[in-house]
Amino acid sequence: MTDLFTTTAQKSGPVECLGQTFPSDQARREHYLELLARKLKDPEFRKLKGFPVGADEDILALSDPPYYTACPNPFAADFISHYGSEYDSLSRYEKEPFLADVSEGKNDPIYNAHSYHTKVPHKAIMRYILHYTQPGDIVFDGFCGTGMTGVAAQLCGDRTVVESLGYRVSPDGTILEQLTIDGELAWKPFSKLGARTALLNELSPAASFIASNYNTEIDGVKFDIKAREILQKVTNECGWMYETRHFDGKTKGRINFTLWSDVFRCPECADEIIFWDVAADKDAGKVRDEFSCPHCAAVLKKKLLERSWISYIDDATGLTVRQAKQVPVLINYSVGKSRFEKLPDQEDFDLIKRIAEEPISGWFPSSRMIEGSETRRNDPIGITHVHHFYTRRNLITLSRFREQIFSAREEENNPGLGLWFTSSHVWATRLNRLLASNYFKSGGGVIGQTLQGTLYVSSLAIETNCIQRFSLRVNSVPYTARGGFSCVSTGSAETMQVPENSVDYIFVDPPFGANIMYSELNSLWEAWLKVRTNSISEAVENRALGKALDDYRRLMSKCFEEAFRILKPGRWMTVEFSNTQASVWNAIQTALQEAGFVVANVAALEKSHKGFRAVTTSTAVKQDLVISAYKPNGGLEERFKRTGGSEESAWDFVRTHLKYLPTVKVKGGELEFTAERDPRIIFDRMIAWFVRHNTAVPLSSQEFQEGLRQRFPERDGMVFLPEQVAEYDRKRAQVARAPQMELFVSDARSAIDWLADFLKRRPSTYQEISPEFIGHLGAGWKKHEAKPELMALLENNFLKYDGMSELPSQIHSYLSTNHKDLRGLDKSDPRLISKAKDRWYVPDPNKAQDLEKKREKALLKEFQLYQAFTGRRLKEFRLEVLRAGFKEAWGKKDYQTIIAVAKKIPDEALQEDEKLLLWYDQAMTRTEDGL
Ligand SMILES: C[S@@+](CC[C@H](N)C(=O)[O-])C[C@H]1O[C@@H](n2cnc3c(N)ncnc32)[C@H](O)[C@@H]1O
Repeated sequence: MTDLFTTTAQKSGPVECLGQTFPSDQARREHYLELLARKLKDPEFRKLKGFPVGADEDILALSDPPYYTACPNPFAADFISHYGSEYDSLSRYEKEPFLADVSEGKNDPIYNAHSYHTKVPHKAIMRYILHYTQPGDIVFDGFCGTGMTGVAAQLCGDRTVVESLGYRVSPDGTILEQLTIDGELAWKPFSKLGARTALLNELSPAASFIASNYNTEIDGVKFDIKAREILQKVTNECGWMYETRHFDGKTKGRINFTLWSDVFRCPECADEIIFWDVAADKDAGKVRDEFSCPHCAAVLKKKLLERSWISYIDDATGLTVRQAKQVPVLINYSVGKSRFEKLPDQEDFDLIKRIAEEPISGWFPSSRMIEGSETRRNDPIGITHVHHFYTRRNLITLSRFREQIFSAREEENNPGLGLWFTSSHVWATRLNRLLASNYFKSGGGVIGQTLQGTLYVSSLAIETNCIQRFSLRVNSVPYTARGGFSCVSTGSAETMQVPENSVDYIFVDPPFGANIMYSELNSLWEAWLKVRTNSISEAVENRALGKALDDYRRLMSKCFEEAFRILKPGRWMTVEFSNTQASVWNAIQTALQEAGFVVANVAALEKSHKGFRAVTTSTAVKQDLVISAYKPNGGLEERFKRTGGSEESAWDFVRTHLKYLPTVKVKGGELEFTAERDPRIIFDRMIAWFVRHNTAVPLSSQEFQEGLRQRFPERDGMVFLPEQVAEYDRKRAQVARAPQMELFVSDARSAIDWLADFLKRRPSTYQEISPEFIGHLGAGWKKHEAKPELMALLENNFLKYDGMSELPSQIHSYLSTNHKDLRGLDKSDPRLISKAKDRWYVPDPNKAQDLEKKREKALLKEFQLYQAFTGRRLKEFRLEVLRAGFKEAWGKKDYQTIIAVAKKIPDEALQEDEKLLLWYDQAMTRTEDGL
């Protein structure tokens, strides 16, 4: 990557942009800025969803059109028509879902050039892009954050980076991957070398600004020269504020950081206590929560102490400020190359006093922190406005840096400068804190940046030397992509300004419920950039913004609908998901299916083994998940329109769906169970498809299972297309063991599935089943789901051999294969009969349908009880009853019943069940639409 520093990216001569030639890059910018300025005057344009909060001139100051606009990008469609290809319904595109470790590649200079609250490494995304696309294809990421998808798309054209992923690149640009084929290692064509074009979108202007800079080639030399010039200027003006006297009394040292400590008051003697002085325990290597007062020796606990306060008139706002007192307690400084530490002396205190009186000549943001639980979490300690998040020294310096950097950006197109400012900024705030354990044990860095996902100001805050931090970042800035291939837009992913069926692949890492409040965390950056996130469109669960999980899901649905609209039919979307809450996971699944996507694979990354495990229930969500979903091709939709919600449509759906599923999954030489090929999951997908098309489901579960058996070959509990099964059989013949399905028992439905699986393999008596069954009713059981009696489950779903009638073949074959002494006996042999008596077994399909009808009837009867219940909330209920009732009501278009009963169950129970949620949400939509 060293050549990054020696290239001259910003051409001074003619440049081409979207098919037009300009005399210089500056002319290109001016031309498009002019167009953007005109567009900004259009009130309709400003009404677009997620339009950031900012004045025209500030939006223009950040933008670099047509590549980047700090508002919805009006040139995105031109970009697509210039670089993309039209959807061709006749072209063949067949890919299986692909999986790669989404956390791979974090130790990379490009990845580390800029931090963000969550980032997916570009190297991980590259594997997906290479699998699903060809050079020149358009890749879309609607929640792009720092734009790593764009970086990945561009680097698919960089041979060195592609090879660093373990692929080989042949001279003609074919990318080969190493596979084990029939026990032999072989190199197989995987993709083609060549950059892909990225369409990136992000709600937060801070993030989109970073994404744009990341996706633009930075002229390392030009940037370096300018950055060092600015550094020199700022050092000349502000360097004196970071000086301290060395212990020789003569030499001046340069401060690296100053540690500031909270100050409390002793409740016994009312004297001031400096937290650091009493709590730092060098021997134990930690900061204690319990200590004694240095004045009166009273034993004290930190959380019970009163704070000490300071009051002053804030010259930025004119208001009197009352803030929790913090004082400098330790200075870490350098003389030459040696580092030292000292307690602040009188000269240091005088310096701080002098700085406090120093007027700030340049501009800095001084607005009230925007509303929010993080942004206003420090209100109680008097940190209420943006500038309070910086010590005065760093505020002055940051203001100088901003002024120099932004005026240089205006004079010359030097995108590295923007990245330099935003990446250094995080070091300048009071959110930095002491990592006490590292500090005492001299192990690792001692400065911790912001506690992940918060705006927490620590009792032991670190004030870095802002000039030094900017200086340290200079070398990492030029590690970006080459540029020219990405289009970055700022707005909500609900509306993209591009035509339908125009992108070839989507990779997204959306926000996850209440995990991270991006608009709040980005608010400090955005205050300096003068353009703010429009949080109305933020997909987040946030009490301070009045947004519940339901609002989050609806917003995600709209974003996925838009993604669905712009994706070419038959193409894929990968959704990276990293939330451990089942309800948020269901919100995502529901939103995806409502938008029309069909989920073909869900896998969890097993961090310890770096492998993937299939996910069958929401309660299993504990790690990062990768969801592979596709937009069905036009043919299926067309046929559905023609045949309506008939049985034939169901089979048509299954046939199309099976094509998208992986045929074989091999891990560590063993075959893996493909959960999506499980008949029950296929049934769920089919239901979601019908619900989304507002059509009653034409088949019962058993009818569906029976139909599946008649139409499609089944192997090891998985369903295949006839043309797929040969490949599976071939692989199966090479391994000793059939793949095992992993079943999580979390409610009555999965308990029945578990029993069916158990009894299929081993028809057993109640006494044999009971201990095994109880062992599975563990921690994963859903909170509100009534625990069923084993006997009731058996009676309602399975058959027991009475010892009188003919011996069922299921029991016969089990006994004769597993008991030597019963082998070869006639079905009517009394020894066999007595061993078989009282064993429960899985009924054959005809009998199973009778049982299902009986069970449905019972469930619907119980559902009527729920309907008739007049209390506020049902305390315990069975999800199966609700599912049966909702399904029937849906079929009758009786949406009110669904809504009324849903109101009687706790919200979380609804949110945590994918099927109920889908019916409920659709019922709500239908009634809202007045249909
Ligand atoms: C998990 S982060 C993406 C991080 C990204 N993968 C990266 O590597 O930097 C999710 C992003 O979605 C953005 N976001 C939230 N609501 C949005 C919306 N309605 N439209 C577009 N972006 C949104 C947030 O601002 C946040 O930056």
